Amino acid sequence: MIEQAARKPFLYVVVCAAGVAADLGKLITAAQERQWEVGVIATPVAMNGFFDTTAVEARTGRRIRSAWRTPGEPRPFPAPDAVVVAPATFNTVNKWAAGIADTLALGTLCEAAGLGVPIAVLPCVADALAAHPAYRDSLERLRGMGVRFGEPYAGEPGEDGGRPDFGWERALELVERR
Ligand SMILES: Cc1cc2nc3c(=O)[nH]c(=O)nc-3n(C[C@H](O)[C@H](O)[C@H](O)COP(=O)(O)O)c2cc1C
Repeated sequence: MIEQAARKPFLYVVVCAAGVAADLGKLITAAQERQWEVGVIATPVAMNGFFDTTAVEARTGRRIRSAWRTPGEPRPFPAPDAVVVAPATFNTVNKWAAGIADTLALGTLCEAAGLGVPIAVLPCVADALAAHPAYRDSLERLRGMGVRFGEPYAGEPGEDGGRPDFGWERALELVERR
């Protein structure tokens, strides 16, 4: 009898255009060490120099997705077992909560809650933006949909001039939580 290799669970990593995205490789490595297979979906702005796309494609062994496929094309990624949004921008959080699906990243997020898979978000939003009432409403709405949020992260330099650690692995803890 031929035994089939167990399929690894598939993690969608949605990446937005925040400066901290430059360290995306840390999340991918950590996810792979935890036995996730990873596919990256980036917003169109994030594809514009926010992270090393060549290194990420080499690390995942898959093309990064950012544009919609054409109608005749097969789905490039399997269905997700979990979805992580890291870093999540002010813009994407608000559009997602409002049900806007005008990019592949947003369409994927809008659909994900309906699939019933765990979704974790690591926001990277400056305090001044996070004070906007629309953002607070968006967080409340997404939490009400079952979306799991990491701690707020403003990305501001600390007293030593360095930025605090983004804590990428928190996203994995959140999706793996029962
Ligand atoms: C260098 C740079 C860093 C940025 N960092 C952030 C950030 O940390 N958080 C954020 O919400 N927006 C940040 N922005 C603004 C977003 O890139 C902008 O709102 C963009 O429209 C977000 O697009 P997206 O949500 O589709 O990725 C940054 C922009 C630049 C140029």
